[in-house]
Amino acid sequence: MGSLVILHDALYLEDRLTRGMVRGLALALIAAGVLFVMTSGMAWAVFERPMHALAEWMRKLRFGGASESPPRGLPVSRLQDESVHLAASFRAARSKEREEAQEIVRSDKAWTRDRLRAHAIDALGGQPLVVVSNREPYMHQLREGKPVLVRPASGLVTGLDPVLRATGGLWVAHGAGDADRQTADAAGCIPVPPEDSRYTLKRVWITKEEEQGYYYGFSNEGLWPLCHLTHERPLFRAGDWEQYVRANQRFANAVLEEIGDEKAVVMVQDYQLALVPGMIKAKRPDIRVGLFWHIPWPNAEAFRICPYRVELLQGMLGADLLGFHLQQHCNNFLDTVDRMVEAKLNWDHFSAEIKGHTSLVRPFPISVQQWSERGVATGTKLASHITTLRQQHQLDGCMVGVGVDRIDYTKGIAERFRAIERLFEKHPEHKGKFTFVQLGAPSRVHIPRYRDLVTELEALADQINWKFQDASREGWKPIHFLVDHHEGPAVYAFLKMASVCIVSSLHDGMNLVAKEFVAAKAEGGAESTEREAGGDKEGVLVLSEFAGAARDLPEALIINPYDTEEFAQAIHEAIMMDDKERRQRMTRMRLRIEEFNIYRWAADFLTALAQAKGRVDPSEAGQPRRPQ
Ligand code: G6P
Repeated sequence: MGSLVILHDALYLEDRLTRGMVRGLALALIAAGVLFVMTSGMAWAVFERPMHALAEWMRKLRFGGASESPPRGLPVSRLQDESVHLAASFRAARSKEREEAQEIVRSDKAWTRDRLRAHAIDALGGQPLVVVSNREPYMHQLREGKPVLVRPASGLVTGLDPVLRATGGLWVAHGAGDADRQTADAAGCIPVPPEDSRYTLKRVWITKEEEQGYYYGFSNEGLWPLCHLTHERPLFRAGDWEQYVRANQRFANAVLEEIGDEKAVVMVQDYQLALVPGMIKAKRPDIRVGLFWHIPWPNAEAFRICPYRVELLQGMLGADLLGFHLQQHCNNFLDTVDRMVEAKLNWDHFSAEIKGHTSLVRPFPISVQQWSERGVATGTKLASHITTLRQQHQLDGCMVGVGVDRIDYTKGIAERFRAIERLFEKHPEHKGKFTFVQLGAPSRVHIPRYRDLVTELEALADQINWKFQDASREGWKPIHFLVDHHEGPAVYAFLKMASVCIVSSLHDGMNLVAKEFVAAKAEGGAESTEREAGGDKEGVLVLSEFAGAARDLPEALIINPYDTEEFAQAIHEAIMMDDKERRQRMTRMRLRIEEFNIYRWAADFLTALAQAKGRVDPSEAGQPRRPQ
């Protein structure tokens, strides 16, 4: 007997087990990978690809370029049917619109929203209109944690919003509101106006550094004082310029991205985006580009101090059409080009040719739309708004003068306050009977000059009020300086209430407040109710000779804001003017504003842009001549 001991090395079992597990895991991973690739591939083929094709087709449809049928093979058959219907309705609507457009154009009526829409279809040749500006027409700001819609105080916005509402299309602008991202889609787009969408706003996002250098720095501490002759020294910093170039490229890219490979007509706005025309043309020379300069263009001597003058001018000359408010600004611009860049000028045609590309230079004095189109209250509602405002600000029983401005040193607000001070010194009989309300919207407040200006003006108004206030006229003061962002209805109520409106810019491209005042006086509404509430149907405009508007409104009392004596005397005359003269002057201005309104401005610009050849025409390239 003995024991048989069998020793068996069972380690192989563990090995085999481990190997089996590893193999199993690898196989499972491979199977999962294959499954993942197959499902993603199928999801892409069945769902994503057709949906992308559909989105692209819809984008083209929106831009007016989708002539083909909707893509086939959509995952949901109802989607397929609905897109076919959508395409058919779009085509029908377009052809109806074209027919109506031709009818309206033939009927040769006054310039209205409809007539502009009709004209635009013709002038744009079916291509969409793309406006690009720094300032957006609709901004969302957070108030108590909720996004609130704000209409920025900007002449550019006042002018262009009714145009895009009429023509439809796309507006590309800086999304500057702190609730702008959360109210737009992933591409930064939002249909506007929010209550009645007429066009698409695409918001461009720029970094804090870009905003500081491009907007506050180069645009508003450099170009703004450079172009406005107000003895404010422009500041040029290399870093700001770099950001200006970068931000301009962002705007240009945003436009190009939206246009894709379609055609479009692009209207670039203002001094913040001077390089955008050149940047767009560099990528898409076939796209028609116009640039409208909303501020003055100084004489060549003044412009010369800008270290980046050549780059700026070259960028601007990328545009096929360059628009300014006044002929004088066009002359200054061409003269500047003549002296500073290698360009061939044709003074007969007012054009400049650079590297085979021609830019036309033309004046287009901008204007406004009627208040009645803006949904502001009229009749008893307006009357009660006026009554409330009068009570709230203790204006009862007083004739009211009004000023509406962004708080900007170019607006001559200090000069205005001094003229009011002089008025009460020279004519104490107006004390207690006349008062001046200045609505001042804070603007560009991260720039020290602007921030300090608010404090300076508040101190000046206080000082003047203190000087003239006395116990015998309780509640009365010469100046009400209301620093706030005032929305359209409040501005309208003040304009309707005012007997005198003062615009005293030290230098201004056009100044639309002057025209807004005339337009406000154009609509009677419930005149008697309004008058009872303290409104004034007519009114007198006191207007600076240095605002472009002075050329269009010579019936205003034209003043030099630097001449305090003359200025104060004009306010006195405005207060004392008899009804007949007030009516005559206002009627003439009113008729002119009605005829030369914003729709006509846009139609003229689009017509000229459609006619601008861009490329040089040998028959026009005669010997350059400068007008005498
Ligand atoms: C002027 C400029 C506009 C600008 C507006 C308001 O009218 O020409 O481009 O939008 O001032 O200034 P802001 O800097 O607030 O846009």
